[in-house]
Amino acid sequence: MELYGSVQIAEDGELKIGGCRATRLAKDFGTPLHIMDEDVIRTKCREMKTSLLKHYPNILVAYASKAFCTLAMCRLAHEEALGLDVCSGGELFTALEAGVPPENILFHGNCKTRQEIEMGVRVGVGRFVIDNLEELDLLSEISRRFRRRVRVQIRLNPGVEAHTHDYIKTGLIDSKFGLGVIDGQAMTAVERVLASEYLVLEGVHSHIGSQILNVEPYVLAAQVVMEFVGDVKEKYGYGLREVNLGGGFGVRYKSTDTPLQLDEYSRRISQVIRESCHTQRLDLPCIMVEPGRYIVGEAGTTLYTIEAIKNIPGIRKYVMVDGGMSENPRVTLYQAKYEAIVANRALEQPSEIVSIAGKHCEEGDMLVVDTKLPQVKPGDLLAIRTTGAYHYSMASNYNRYTRPAVVLVNAGVADLIIERESYANLIARDRIPTRLAQGGTGEIGPHLPAAGITNARIAPA
Ligand SMILES: Cc1ncc(COP(=O)(O)O)c(C=O)c1O
Repeated sequence: MELYGSVQIAEDGELKIGGCRATRLAKDFGTPLHIMDEDVIRTKCREMKTSLLKHYPNILVAYASKAFCTLAMCRLAHEEALGLDVCSGGELFTALEAGVPPENILFHGNCKTRQEIEMGVRVGVGRFVIDNLEELDLLSEISRRFRRRVRVQIRLNPGVEAHTHDYIKTGLIDSKFGLGVIDGQAMTAVERVLASEYLVLEGVHSHIGSQILNVEPYVLAAQVVMEFVGDVKEKYGYGLREVNLGGGFGVRYKSTDTPLQLDEYSRRISQVIRESCHTQRLDLPCIMVEPGRYIVGEAGTTLYTIEAIKNIPGIRKYVMVDGGMSENPRVTLYQAKYEAIVANRALEQPSEIVSIAGKHCEEGDMLVVDTKLPQVKPGDLLAIRTTGAYHYSMASNYNRYTRPAVVLVNAGVADLIIERESYANLIARDRIPTRLAQGGTGEIGPHLPAAGITNARIAPA
């Protein structure tokens, strides 16, 4: 199995992540544990900028914080001179608390509430990305009331959809995101923004999907977007200064995956934009991108402890770990595929096919189905890679499991960036209505017998 990202194997066969030994991390912070490698994150931020700049002079990379949004991560992205894409009041709050200047923030979301829009206008976010006409009108009203200039991009639905290897130019407008180019809604939005008193139209935006491994759908989408930019110029004599092509850059979940070729992306996209500007006599806009998974996906590893093994001869061997769908919902949600490594014995040759199951009360709570591992036993540590994006940010408390801790590792040092939740945290916001607290109907029970559990009360002989 090819190692990539932050994962190495020490001479004694133990997995090291960002220079930290897996057993040490498990001992110091417990499992399940999300481990984020700072060096990988910084490298990805720089790679993205360098690659675009190699082919185009005017770019902006904004980290899509939905992939993994914490104070430390927002600070890191800011330190790397990335802008930040937020899509909720909570992400905006986190970014501001982390010290990200509001003007570096793009505010997304297909259903921003009045309260969220007011918050964004009050703090002065750099760009609102308008997703629908209702939002546009509300934003226009709020900006007028606050007497604040608000710079906006309009999110287009270019009619191109991409899912990993496949992509289709659907021409369809059936999506909750964005304003249709084909049905004229996007142009209506342009007209309304230009007519509004306080909104300033900076550019257009498109995001066509996630985990995209192929450059072609981006090229198609960029062509549609640039035609739209040309149409705006022709119709209103207005030059859009920004073309935001969103995120979606695919990463490796398994060592056999081929991630999106970044340089190829940058080259082809720049070419489309340059050519389109040339033929339509437009000024070169700033190209913006919003990678989330690309920045943090491969930087993340999750460490589990094997708790139990159940062998059903001839059918399946289940290796059960102390986490599951609450900190990795992607398998259940998207049938995502991962590889596992026995972290305390990573050099041992795989010898049997097993399936790694989570501990939640769902038959579908599996982490890896049918993978080859060496013989394992309870107490062994299991690592799953590429868990940096959409894992912690999608984590839940299903079954009242506490969400794991997250550590940031760098050159052998591990710092806690999110504490493990405690049982006390779990009930901290629970309330018991007074009528229940006072004993309710008085019928409390049933009681289990004081000494030993017996079925006698339920099933008389
Ligand atoms: C508007 C927008 N930008 C950027 C992203 C980031 O996508 P990814 O993490 O796949 O790069 C998303 C993800 O849903 C998005 O909706």
